[in-house]
Amino acid sequence: MQQMALLIGIVAAAALFLPAVRMRLELSKAKHPSLTGHARMARRVAGLVPYYAYDEERFFRSDAAPAEVAARRRSGFARLAELYRQRFARSAALTAETESALSDLQFTGRYRVPFQYSRFLRQHIKAGAFLQSSEGVTVTDLDGNRFYDLAGSYGVNVFGNDFYKTCIAEGSARAAELGPVLGGYHPAVAYNLRRLREISGLDEVSFHMSGTEAVMQAVRLARFHTRRTHLVRFCGAYHGWWEGVQPGIGNPVTQRETYTLKDMDEDSLRVLRRRRDIACVLVNPLQALHPNAGAPSDGSLVDSARSAHFDREAYATWLRRLREVCTQRGIVLIFDEVFVGFRLAPGGAQEYFGVRADMVTYGKTLGGGFPVGVVCGRANLMKRFREDRPADICFARGTFNSHPYVMAAMQVFLERLGTPAIRGLYEGLDELWNGRAQQLNARLEEAALPVRVANLSSIWTVCYTRPSRYNWMLQYYLRAEGLALSWVGTGRLIFSLNYTDADFAAVCDRFVAAARAMERDGWWWSDPALSNRSIKRGILREMIAQRF
Ligand SMILES: Cc1ncc(COP(=O)(O)O)c(C=O)c1O
Repeated sequence: MQQMALLIGIVAAAALFLPAVRMRLELSKAKHPSLTGHARMARRVAGLVPYYAYDEERFFRSDAAPAEVAARRRSGFARLAELYRQRFARSAALTAETESALSDLQFTGRYRVPFQYSRFLRQHIKAGAFLQSSEGVTVTDLDGNRFYDLAGSYGVNVFGNDFYKTCIAEGSARAAELGPVLGGYHPAVAYNLRRLREISGLDEVSFHMSGTEAVMQAVRLARFHTRRTHLVRFCGAYHGWWEGVQPGIGNPVTQRETYTLKDMDEDSLRVLRRRRDIACVLVNPLQALHPNAGAPSDGSLVDSARSAHFDREAYATWLRRLREVCTQRGIVLIFDEVFVGFRLAPGGAQEYFGVRADMVTYGKTLGGGFPVGVVCGRANLMKRFREDRPADICFARGTFNSHPYVMAAMQVFLERLGTPAIRGLYEGLDELWNGRAQQLNARLEEAALPVRVANLSSIWTVCYTRPSRYNWMLQYYLRAEGLALSWVGTGRLIFSLNYTDADFAAVCDRFVAAARAMERDGWWWSDPALSNRSIKRGILREMIAQRF
């Protein structure tokens, strides 16, 4: 009798808990096996990594290169250091003067290359962080050096810096009469609303000061209206630096209401189909270039394992499947187009991939050169109150939302977006940029250089074909050739669409020259036994030795 009761108890408990256990297992299965897919563990591991820096000997021979190769590296390095000293003197001096009080500069300066190499490199190669002017597709530093701009202002620069100067000047002139008055709206708001509704195909719009804020608001609204707690983001995707969308390294607080799932994977769809606590799914279409990997940066370029490949059809299919499951389950599908919006197509990623979201966030370029974040969404998701519960609201305000100057510059941006000159830039856009990537790759291959580029339209990343610990050096050779990169180095090159064939040919020449110089100076020497895996193992051994 007692046994029977026990058995019934076990069966009852199993019936009660099995679905929960199964869902937990499904969730685990939908996590990417890398540390990027395990936010909490990644943070713990990051906390264990000890600091150590290579001395001069190790800096040049961390891959146990023969003495002759190390000597070539040394003399190449010395030449580069001297060139930087002479050519970038004023920019470097102001950088040195400001660095100790400018936290952002300290951070970016330190993480341009893997930390083991950073100290020695910064002692000898001083790249300035200041710029004086911009024109066409170039920027000029304080010493008068002109660079082709491959940094693209973090993606803001879609149509060329001169375009944004016009948006700012014209916009400022239109806003001048009202000036900095906040609270009441400048009439530009009405025009922007109309155009953004047309472009997004959505009903309502809210204006914010940054992309981070826009994403924050979209997620908050999704939670408010679905009355569910969790947001889903995909492994590696960046959505700004706000807590909930950055659950791992970089955020000191553990995020309990964020699921990070595998991108482009059936297991993730299963989780979306089954769980009842998911309010929204956030998609950054830029991930199509490197699904499940974080934004590539030379700061973590310890080997040649970085890879990227864009398959438009495969990603469009994935978005269609996401759309389907979100519709079935009442989950809010949010496209975060802060980066790619207006770069891939005039109607953004929705148009480019042929899939509609429930909410879309925009930012960067849309401000016409000013800071901005925008949420567009279906009317039932954008309301910040409930008709039947007056005290139950979803609060979102912000002093500078709808700033007259930003709104007026945005109006100029949107007006110009509709002109034949700008519309023309989108014609054959993919063919043009794919062709240019192929052109550069052909030249690199011809010169037997171990470098290739991969691209999502005008957003490029550099990959390396030969196992090496020194790929991050390329950014310094590129700068010496007059190519300006952002602090993530060769991880991301961003072209503005006003690059002519002649401009691009000049970039190609300089890129190949830089890679040739790097090859000549021995940085890409590689022992045939060296592999990306053996490099990683070697670094792990160093870290362990450092800790014990
Ligand atoms: C996709 C995406 N979302 C959000 C953001 C955050 O925008 P902001 O830097 O304006 O806060 C970024 C910035 O790079 C982004 O690329």
